[in-house]
Amino acid sequence: MTEERAAVEATAFQKILRGRRSIRRYLPAPVEREKLLACLEAARIAPSAHNVQPWRFIVVDDPELKDRLAAAAFSGIYSSSKFAARAPVILVLLARPGGTVVRIGAKLQGVSFNLIDMGIAGEHVVLQAEELGLATCWMGWFDYRKVRKVLRIPRKFKVVAMMPLGYAEKRPTREPPRKTLEEVVAFNRIPPD
Ligand SMILES: Cc1cc2nc3c(=O)[nH]c(=O)nc-3n(C[C@H](O)[C@H](O)[C@H](O)COP(=O)(O)O)c2cc1C
Repeated sequence: MTEERAAVEATAFQKILRGRRSIRRYLPAPVEREKLLACLEAARIAPSAHNVQPWRFIVVDDPELKDRLAAAAFSGIYSSSKFAARAPVILVLLARPGGTVVRIGAKLQGVSFNLIDMGIAGEHVVLQAEELGLATCWMGWFDYRKVRKVLRIPRKFKVVAMMPLGYAEKRPTREPPRKTLEEVVAFNRIPPD
């Protein structure tokens, strides 16, 4: 297994995967429009259950709206998320729940295909951003209700996550701990707890 891993470690994609970090310090420098669009395009072509493509993105780059959004979304118990306000762009990830087939399928299987789809599309953004030298951070810790209110998001959309996008002022030096492959993978048996 070690040899197999070593054989692919140096690919460009591996470097993107290994280089990506959640960034919590952003420069005020704007994101070039073509880079922003490349990130969104990466999401657009993501796979989804029954090809429903439930993702919708609100790109918040108007400074006044971004300030209002941040003030509402990152207040009180969510104030640790204030760092996101410094990014020049905040993406709000919305899900438009799928058609009957996907909904029935998800219910039968007990798995939210909708959220799987959103995770894939969001991570496409993250990885495309990384390749282009941009920084992101998945965010689930914010006031969902206030985000809906400030952006006047209709009920038919589910607010799934937010994601600041910009240039990193500082990349964390400490590697976040990761479980070993042996802790998370088992060949032909149940993985450990
Ligand atoms: C669904 C999801 C929600 C997250 N929410 C937040 C958040 O609200 N605030 C935050 O600072 N980081 C958030 N993170 C980032 C994680 O803390 C981070 O991915 C983890 O600590 C590993 O660090 P790394 O991304 O630098 O590898 C979130 C990540 C995911 C995938």
